[in-house]
Amino acid sequence: MTSPARPAAVVVLAAGEGTRMKSDTPKVLHELCGRSLVGHVLAAAGRLEPAHLAVVIGYQRERVAAHVTGVDARVVTAVQDQQNGTGHAVRCALAELPDLDGPVVVLNGDTPLLTAETLQALVSTHVEAGNAATVLTASVPDPTGLGRIVRNADGRVQRIVEHRDATAEERTIAEINSGMFAFDAKHLRSMLDRLTTDNDQGQEYLTDVLGLLVEDGHPVAAMVAPDYRETLGCNDRVELSALRALLRDRLVTAAMRAGATVIDPASVWFDVDVVLGRDVVVHPNVQLRGATVIEDRAEVGPDSTLIDTKVGAGATVVRTHSNQAEIGPEATVGPFAYLRPGSVLGRKAKVGTYVETKNATIGEGSKVPHLTYVGDATIGEHSNIGAASVFVNYDGVNKHHTTIGDHARTGSDTMFIAPVNVGDGAYTAAGSVITEDVPPGAMAVARARQRNIDGWVERRRPGTAAADAAAAARRVASEEGTVE
Ligand code: UD1
Ligand code: CA
Repeated sequence: MTSPARPAAVVVLAAGEGTRMKSDTPKVLHELCGRSLVGHVLAAAGRLEPAHLAVVIGYQRERVAAHVTGVDARVVTAVQDQQNGTGHAVRCALAELPDLDGPVVVLNGDTPLLTAETLQALVSTHVEAGNAATVLTASVPDPTGLGRIVRNADGRVQRIVEHRDATAEERTIAEINSGMFAFDAKHLRSMLDRLTTDNDQGQEYLTDVLGLLVEDGHPVAAMVAPDYRETLGCNDRVELSALRALLRDRLVTAAMRAGATVIDPASVWFDVDVVLGRDVVVHPNVQLRGATVIEDRAEVGPDSTLIDTKVGAGATVVRTHSNQAEIGPEATVGPFAYLRPGSVLGRKAKVGTYVETKNATIGEGSKVPHLTYVGDATIGEHSNIGAASVFVNYDGVNKHHTTIGDHARTGSDTMFIAPVNVGDGAYTAAGSVITEDVPPGAMAVARARQRNIDGWVERRRPGTAAADAAAAARRVASEEGTVE
């Protein structure tokens, strides 16, 4: 970004509690699509590459400070001890910053739909027009509670009047103050010193800076937001859910425009950092969270939640919960699979139904089809793990590793008591409890030999249906001459 449109500072106001959220968590820390409210604002602000990025904190300041500096290390926090108004809040921020020259952008911490493009346009408009202040405005369906833009007969911005201070006539104005501004630093600083508390709330209103600038003959203008939704703030959890749905629509639309098929956009949720390739298909009820990446032609869902998971090209993932896993190209997962952190599936690997994996590498073409727990394991290529097997990794104190070679065939209901190794091409018999290494190519049998006690049911359970069935079977067998 070139220097003229690079702000001297962006100030984000986030000192409020957000009473109407009815929450122990400060409003700006509430989450949508993988970021906090203020995290979305900081992401857009950061793209302007301001010389200074300040956040005004007050309510639960330690918690908010830790969060915002974690989101962006460039953030400087400014404490506003008492909520004396938006103007006072900006004054607190400027007190933490060196003497500024050039544009200062002021934003609210609760407007997550604001885009960097609109912010950049606001700053460019402001700089090119040589304004003392430029306010981002919009016409919203319901302006109740918001500040209104008062223009003169020529259409020039005169001042902003708060809803609660407005006359009935002023309340009919549809154009509202988004709370987002670009100011000239010098003019802002001098006018902040002239704010009064002569209003219904007895607070220092930032909005009054515009009226003061106009009075002194400085150029003040408005830029109308390209989409009013970008200006929407969040006051309660109903608005939060509406904002989340709008953001979801934006993210899903972008994925579809980039070549993904989304069968039911209203039932899928993407976080902002999710990346989908071409010809990906997303079925209903899918959540893609964190840094999840879905590569070309992969199919996800229905009913899957993937967190920080990479899905390789052409893979299919059905009814699966996955966290920090890597699914190879053309692999198949689910239905009803649970991939936990450190699960790495090779090309064409299969993790089937009622299978849980953790810290496990499953090599190319290997299959774990049914009812199995694979924890702390390395499985080579083209091996098959029998149904209902358990990689017994935990001795009650420590976790241990199991290694299975290539082209192994382990029987159903095998318990691998880690640490243990099964060599290339080895087999295990169904029902085996494997406590010792199995050499390559060996068949391990580790189970009790079967013993049949003839006639037990008729002797020990006489009169039961089982005994009757046994007696009938014995008669048939003896008529056929198969039993003496
Ligand atoms: C403000 C604007 C209003 C605009 C609306 C847009 C003023 C006087 N009014 O009204 O014109 O239409 O935003 O949403 O500016 N904050 C502080 N310290 C304070 C007061 C507020 O940090 O002392 C922060 C809040 O945490 C919030 C933001 O500033 O993030 C806006 O404050 P809020 O009280 O919500 O202002 P509104 O009454 O909504
Ligand atoms: Ca508000």
